[in-house]
Amino acid sequence: MYRSRPKGKLDDDVLNFLSSMSHDQSILYYDIVGSEAHSIMLHEMGHISQPELKKILAALEQAKKDPSNIETGDAEDIHEALEAFVIKNAGMDAGGKMHTARSRNDQVVLDIRMKVRDDINSVCTAIIDLIDGLLKKASENKDAFMPLYTHLQQGQIGSFSHILLSYADALFRDLERIYQSFGRVNQSPLGACAIGGTSIKIDRKRTAVLLGFDGLVRNSVDATTSRDAFIEYVSDLAILTTTLARMAEDLIIWSTSEFGFIELADRYSSTSSAMPQKKNPDPLELTRSKAPVVAGKLISMLGIVKSLPSGYSRDLQDLKPLIIDASATALGTVKIMDGVIRTLQVRKERMYDVSKNSYAVSLDIAEQLVTKKHLPFRMAHKIVGALVAEAAKSGRPLADLDPKDIESVIKAAKIELEAGELARIVKDMTPERSLEYRTSEGSPNPQEQDAMIKADIAKLDGYREGVHKRSKFVQGSFENLAREVEKYLGS
Ligand code: ARG
Repeated sequence: MYRSRPKGKLDDDVLNFLSSMSHDQSILYYDIVGSEAHSIMLHEMGHISQPELKKILAALEQAKKDPSNIETGDAEDIHEALEAFVIKNAGMDAGGKMHTARSRNDQVVLDIRMKVRDDINSVCTAIIDLIDGLLKKASENKDAFMPLYTHLQQGQIGSFSHILLSYADALFRDLERIYQSFGRVNQSPLGACAIGGTSIKIDRKRTAVLLGFDGLVRNSVDATTSRDAFIEYVSDLAILTTTLARMAEDLIIWSTSEFGFIELADRYSSTSSAMPQKKNPDPLELTRSKAPVVAGKLISMLGIVKSLPSGYSRDLQDLKPLIIDASATALGTVKIMDGVIRTLQVRKERMYDVSKNSYAVSLDIAEQLVTKKHLPFRMAHKIVGALVAEAAKSGRPLADLDPKDIESVIKAAKIELEAGELARIVKDMTPERSLEYRTSEGSPNPQEQDAMIKADIAKLDGYREGVHKRSKFVQGSFENLAREVEKYLGS
């Protein structure tokens, strides 16, 4: 339909190569409402008569009701197909005016902005739900003592709830980043036209309001060229999926028979075609792989926009599937993690058993020597290290060392310390005591955890309300637009 200068049709191979139709389905709805707002504005500015507008809107509404009627035929993309559909149904005299003071260059980026703004709300809602699940699970597991690992070796005693709260904090930052990207996405490029605006009197603010935007991407070159807001969003998704991948990795490790700390719900586990005993954490494994998948899309996006001249180039079309896929992948991954967290079983006894027999109390013991006996930390470190070396010889926990061993460690260290006293400090250091003593801010100390849960619940409510308001605002704008459309259709 667009071929005014080039003669004849495109070769089929060329058309296939150029076509963005397969991914345009996800922007079709936005293309229709965008076209409705644009046409109403054109009428209000005196460029389209009321009967013409009525015909255009009737065709657009028909397209909305039954998109399968839109013939894709020779069209290179959904914009062309939709305009052809409107012209066919409204006639050239009316339908041929719809594309006045508009170009696919401002149109496509308008559609993507509307799509991404909805996606941002969906992803934010999913993250909020996931954090909610983490906070609930954390509240139930404050007494799930377990070792904390560094280098995947037992480090200090902690609790499962404290780890869940650490995920919540990381996810809060992911949420904040994505939430903030909304402001830069929700600006209308419509009216920038092909690159340099138009001599036809239009009202850019009017279409922006009709479509629920917060403002305009003012400069027409910037509006049609820039994709930084989408790159920002996908980079936020790449960071988010990396957080999820780390969570997945932890859970995979802890669900092994060797650890046995958690058990995944059957409905979040897969099995083996050959080994009947298998209960595999496939959803978590795919969660882990999504991080590089999304990061790859980000890298592709950066590669595409790098070195492009200002103004629309067709390269930009290849961003669309990357954005759409990254969004869908991240959203699906957050939802899977939400389900895994809510349904997993925590094996508190097993965790306690491992904690009780662990040398992860060593640092706590050394700190007791510092606070109670005023030993320099470096000396305390040496003594406890020697105790562990002694106990490890026979695979005993520290609490099972006999007085004789403790005596010889003190002697070898040449320090003034009563063996009985050190033995008491060692015996006293149960997992419970370990957390009770560790009162620093943000530690797994039960009171610290209570404070974190309380603060997180309040923070989450704030975000929930913010996302709700945003969605309501967009929805309200669309309802208002629908009323305008109704008004003209009934005229
Ligand atoms: N299908 C194109 C895209 O997705 C629409 C814009 C085409 N504009 C142009 N001047 N060729 O980006």
